[in-house]
Amino acid sequence: MDGNGRWATARGKNRSFGHRAGSANVDRIVSHAFSKGVKSLTLYAFSSENWARPKEEVDELMKLLKTYFKKFIKKVVKSDVRLVVVGGREQLSADLKKVIEDGEKQSEKNTAHYLNIAINYGGRQEIVSAVKKVLSKGEEVTEQSISANLYTAQSGDPDLIIRTGGELRLSNFLLYQGAYSELYFTDVLWPDFDEKEFDKALEEFSGRKRRFGKI
Ligand code: FPP
Repeated sequence: MDGNGRWATARGKNRSFGHRAGSANVDRIVSHAFSKGVKSLTLYAFSSENWARPKEEVDELMKLLKTYFKKFIKKVVKSDVRLVVVGGREQLSADLKKVIEDGEKQSEKNTAHYLNIAINYGGRQEIVSAVKKVLSKGEEVTEQSISANLYTAQSGDPDLIIRTGGELRLSNFLLYQGAYSELYFTDVLWPDFDEKEFDKALEEFSGRKRRFGKI
């Protein structure tokens, strides 16, 4: 969900204004994606590198995340969506952890869709942590055992990864799970990435030939 900062700067506003607009867009795109039949959606909300941003911006993002969980949890539970937060929890504040745990608990029996929200997430750290978990259980390290110990084990590998905001890189997102994902990059900034833009990505995805290394 890249481009909140530039979206705000272009309007003469501060970056937090962009994050608020980006946050409002989350609800719109989550509802739309599920209505289009997407089974699992993973949103990159805060990377393990984002702590290095100015404190004011980090605080605003944490506040938005807390509000999101409080505000949308009822809707998520009612729509049979299972909410899972992926990433390292230990650095999050006690009150954010509490709303996350409430959301996860209330939706744990839901099966229609998975909504994974990546907070304090880094793909490399996730792989290291999965291998450690495998070893601590005394299991053999295999592709399957690593997959089963990733944060996203319940929802599987993504078919499509979309990055808004014009940069052409993954920035440590779903490195293991994304081995055969189709990639879609758009210059559209996240707050402007509406239903029409989402449909464009799906349309392009539907024309891709997926060979998974075969011919
Ligand atoms: C990247 O844009 C975006 C982020 C680091 C934060 C994404 C967060 C949200 C959309 C809001 C909160 C999320 C939820 C799930 C409620 P940037 O700031 O790097 O933009 P720039 O590249 O234009 O500077």
